[in-house]
Amino acid sequence: MNYHPTAPADQARHHPERIFQAGLALHHIANTAYPIGHLTTMRPYRVITPEAQRLAPLAWQDSPRLGLYVHIPFCEQRCNYCEYCVVDPLQIATHEEVYFDTLEQEFDLYRRALGDSARELTGFDIGGGTPSAAQTRNIARVLDAARRCFDLPDTVRISIETTPKIAAQHPEKIRDYHDLGVRRISMGIQTIHPRLLSEMGRDSTSLSFNRKAAEAVRAAGFERFNVDVMYGFANQSLASLEATLRHATSLQPEYVTLYRVRYKGTRIEAQAAGVTLAEVNEQAQLAKRMLLDAGYQGTPGKNTFSRLPGDPGTSDYLTGRVIAGTPYLGLGLGAQSLSETTLAYNAGAAEKRLERYLRMVQAGQLPIQDLYHLSREAAAGKMVSVSFYFGEVNLDEFQRKFGVTFEAMFLDEVAFVLDRDYMEYRDEPGGRVLRLTEAGELVYNGVIPLFYAGAVKSYLLGLFGWETAALPVEAEHVSLR
Ligand SMILES: C[S@@+](CC[C@H](N)C(=O)[O-])C[C@H]1O[C@@H](n2cnc3c(N)ncnc32)[C@H](O)[C@@H]1O
Ligand code: SF4
Repeated sequence: MNYHPTAPADQARHHPERIFQAGLALHHIANTAYPIGHLTTMRPYRVITPEAQRLAPLAWQDSPRLGLYVHIPFCEQRCNYCEYCVVDPLQIATHEEVYFDTLEQEFDLYRRALGDSARELTGFDIGGGTPSAAQTRNIARVLDAARRCFDLPDTVRISIETTPKIAAQHPEKIRDYHDLGVRRISMGIQTIHPRLLSEMGRDSTSLSFNRKAAEAVRAAGFERFNVDVMYGFANQSLASLEATLRHATSLQPEYVTLYRVRYKGTRIEAQAAGVTLAEVNEQAQLAKRMLLDAGYQGTPGKNTFSRLPGDPGTSDYLTGRVIAGTPYLGLGLGAQSLSETTLAYNAGAAEKRLERYLRMVQAGQLPIQDLYHLSREAAAGKMVSVSFYFGEVNLDEFQRKFGVTFEAMFLDEVAFVLDRDYMEYRDEPGGRVLRLTEAGELVYNGVIPLFYAGAVKSYLLGLFGWETAALPVEAEHVSLR
């Protein structure tokens, strides 16, 4: 399937300096979560609902290899900072079985929709929510369905998420995951600060849970263990972040992922105003220094630090997305999918409720709530934003994917970041990259939006209060070339 023609709004050109300044001022939203304001900025690409069922499968015709993500929206509790699609925790008791029945049906719908030739998986994540909140036999059903519907090579390291509390209290679940072939496990420590944990409504982290969880992970045989640490909370002191990182590294995980709090759409959204860019930069620098000193590797702007040489630390699924823009299929409530030419959100992404998702799948429909048929510019904006998860753009992969050089598409923007020494060219084993410098890392939120599509840049400028050409509102339509 071809790209959609570029919408007039995406042809808008903006001076890099203006976008850079707007990104810095709006640093809480100018990040790798792309696109911003999709109801407006992606509107020209929106496929009308009845067409979505027909168009969505066509979009996968050109993707013999893809990543798979399965979303489990259950948690024992809902943390106040969480941005993910998680349903009311009480629903796990009443809806777990029907959810996994429906997930299996969704797998089968895609198997039929994608036709006979099995797609090869390049990565497979079971995420959430908290997948380990579910019973192991249901996780086993997900793994069986993936093996039934896709070609899943043994070399792919399947990854799963847990909380410290569940891993500590149910080591048998962790062992079962390893027995089922899962090879990477990730758990959120977030912080060890008692006040912050209680303010965030999170009792699943405590020093004793964390230690017992790490023991359970090792006893199960996992050799790839990631812990998440968060920074950028209002009133989070450097001392408490330092103590959290000291504790996190004492668990000796192979990987540590740093998450800067994203406030948009969370219960703590109002607190964003109290957190400055200077504060989060100071925290990020401290965290990076401590991780490098502890023997972890990480390049400027990269969120995941790894102590295994040559291993970026992210799951195979995410690594493919970040480096090569590998298409991915997301199954389950609110899951996002990206083919070469479409972006889709499953039902439930906005309302975080199960009903619509369950109803659509049970009626034999792909549970797609929003489908966008992307232009090349829109697809490039998505790929490049996600690339900044590693703080760099792989130029060879970009050219392979879009058929033009990165410089041809972003001439002024590349000149801007090179002139200012915010990015630099590097020849790496995986190809030539344009990578953030140490100086560029400090203005990360100004650099990323330079590579957004035109409409998203206009939207950002509008939020910042800078005059911008009004985005044309176009009728919803579909193009089926
Ligand atoms: C889907 S959660 C899964 C982990 C598991 N449920 C837990 O809480 O331990 C993945 C990670 O996303 C991060 N996260 C959640 N909400 C976030 C937000 N609003 N901004 C940035 N990171 C967030 C947390 O570090 C969390 O560990
Ligand atoms: S951070 Fe983890 S446990 Fe907390 S609500 Fe989000 S997914 Fe659930």
